[in-house]
Amino acid sequence: MRRAGIAALGAYAPAHILSNAALERLVDTTDQWITSRTGIKERRIAASDEASSDLAVQAVRDLARRFPQFDPGALDLILCATATPDTLFPATASLVQHRVSATRAAACDIGAGCTGFVYALALASGMVQAGSAQQVLVLGAETLSRIVDWQDRATCVLFGDGAGAALVAPVERGGFLSFVLGSDGSGASDLCLPAGGSRQPASPHTLQERLHYLRMNGREVFKFAVPALEQSTRQALSHAGLALPDLDLLVPHQANVRILQAAADRLGLPMERVVVNVERYGNTSSASIPLALVEALDQGRLKSGQRAVLAGFGAGLTWGAALVEWSW
Ligand code: ACO
Repeated sequence: MRRAGIAALGAYAPAHILSNAALERLVDTTDQWITSRTGIKERRIAASDEASSDLAVQAVRDLARRFPQFDPGALDLILCATATPDTLFPATASLVQHRVSATRAAACDIGAGCTGFVYALALASGMVQAGSAQQVLVLGAETLSRIVDWQDRATCVLFGDGAGAALVAPVERGGFLSFVLGSDGSGASDLCLPAGGSRQPASPHTLQERLHYLRMNGREVFKFAVPALEQSTRQALSHAGLALPDLDLLVPHQANVRILQAAADRLGLPMERVVVNVERYGNTSSASIPLALVEALDQGRLKSGQRAVLAGFGAGLTWGAALVEWSW
């Protein structure tokens, strides 16, 4: 079977920076509390006229700048991982498909919380390997600032906005070596947006109770996240017949630096082999892995022939890891 890999990448973060100092003026918090509990110093916030599809289009433009051979007209499929679509329907992927003139491409959204980007990579890779698609554009795009309760200090300090784009296509060598995907719906209520779906449609009651904002049981999510990140990384390696010494770089979902440190500790990985940029973006959900991967490549931290695990965890609860051998 042919191999699939990431042929090109792009990312975008909105211009407006919201610092911890600015948050101190909004809710009862301190830079010291946020930094020591999460590692986050600032996050990006979309402009009032920017929705998730707008951020995704900017990420695709960045990809096209970095990879001038990119031809939207050659795309077979666009998958957009997002927990903050422009609207419940149509899919954000369809809006992007139109905006970038991907006239031949099918398009749909993937909902797997912060693991969405890894899920979408796995689906894209499977389609390319099977020969059902030649080129798939995988997007992770979030405007979490729109669903965060700016009166809830326990959650509003954690999240930010951003987008990433990856072109998945056949590769001669390297590419994806394995995927691990999982879900445990018994933890659904630990991280959710209670209203606005078919269970609790929008009503004066849901508005009054602030049920259209993200709710999170931070401690439970933390307890789930550390072993999920550790085990999915180990499994992705073992599925490919490899072990931790074969891993050059871990590119995890950027939720909280303490989660990343605890997982790295359990894996016995020094932090130099873990990409961390949560201090500048906060948690951007499905956008965080491509944002971190683009930075790592720009810094020369991942080179041809090296192996990286891209690992996510989040609402569902879900988890996933992709082992990739870099080929450019
Ligand atoms: N500023 C100051 N104090 C605060 C703040 C704040 N922003 N937020 C909470 N506190 C207070 C609480 O009220 C509580 O006070 P109390 O003891 O008087 O009741 C105290 O700080 C401790 O609160 P905890 O929630 O127990 O704090 P904890 O140490 O667990 O840290 C945190 C909270 C950072 C949210 C942590 O649980 C965590 O990181 N969880 C994982 C969250 C996460 O990353 N979620 C997303 C992952 S999945 C995805 O990306 C969708």
